[in-house]
Amino acid sequence: MTVLPRFAPDPAGIAAAAKVLRAGGQVAFPTETVYGLGADARNDSAVAGIYAAKGRPSFNPLIVHLADVGAARQVAQFDERAERLAAAFWPGPLTLVLPLRDGAGISALVTAGLPTVALRVPAHPVARRLLAAFGGPLAAPSANPSGRVSPTTADHVAAGLAGRIGGVVDGGACGVGVESTIIGLDGPATLLRAGGVPVEAVEAVLGVAPGTGGDAAVPSAPGQLASHYAPAGRLRLNATAAQPGEVMVGFGVVAGDLTLSARGDLTEAAANLFAVLHRLDAMGAQAIAVAPVPDIGLGRAINDRLQRAAAPREKF
Ligand code: TXA
Ligand code: MG
Repeated sequence: MTVLPRFAPDPAGIAAAAKVLRAGGQVAFPTETVYGLGADARNDSAVAGIYAAKGRPSFNPLIVHLADVGAARQVAQFDERAERLAAAFWPGPLTLVLPLRDGAGISALVTAGLPTVALRVPAHPVARRLLAAFGGPLAAPSANPSGRVSPTTADHVAAGLAGRIGGVVDGGACGVGVESTIIGLDGPATLLRAGGVPVEAVEAVLGVAPGTGGDAAVPSAPGQLASHYAPAGRLRLNATAAQPGEVMVGFGVVAGDLTLSARGDLTEAAANLFAVLHRLDAMGAQAIAVAPVPDIGLGRAINDRLQRAAAPREKF
């Protein structure tokens, strides 16, 4: 049986965990809500490794964890509502979805190509010490394999992810046990996920009740909440060659005008995916052919996103 390395929540353990993160690895750590599976939010392949470890069959945008509100302001644009909510609830179990700052350096795999980013400053002392030691933004979804419940102890993390990640910082049991409340502020305030901060408390600070768009408040299906980025052109999938007028996106031996990964590496392809989609828009591509991507491991999430991008637009 594979044993998951454990880092003690002391200075030596935190330093060792931060070193793994700086090298592009994935480390689970306690927050006040649930254990998160952290990786450098600026490093495409480190973030791709989160999806590979979780076996997630789709790319949903991830929450970026920061040491303090000052670090958060460097990543996203804070309006007056965001400032008030941050002052009231950070550090704590509240996530704000805000307009991403140009040049913030966050991987497009973290935002799933969206112009917004989800941010939170966690309250757990071990999470805060790890963020301070790492010195940068950490993308971190819950540290469980896809389809399993969120972990609230290091043993839960080890049971699900041993052999798939660099280790876990053992900070004992999480206090809150449900994930953070997510409030969208890229328009009228919207409850995107109910969680650790009661929505009534958010309402008291904002002076208005956050809206609930459609089924947006359904906490069991958070992945369905985000709108999905798709390029303007039409996509044709599983193409082995371009037809006249098509821009070809290659993979492996199938060459293209652009390629997801010339060496046929799924981690590299995942890391490149949203950058390639954005480049197609920048080129003004109207018709796009995409080479076959094997439907295994990260390939499943890549194909899921390509299929969504290829589907008729009204589905979004
Ligand atoms: O309590 C928590 O929030 C835990 C701990 C580890 O901090 N983290 C967590 O992260 O639940 P994650 O990545 O599983 O939650 C991500 C959810 C997505 O499913 C999506 O609904 C929302 O956050 N989200 C992230 N970025 C978004 C964006 N730009 N627009 C809308 N929703 C977004
Ligand atoms: Mg989760």
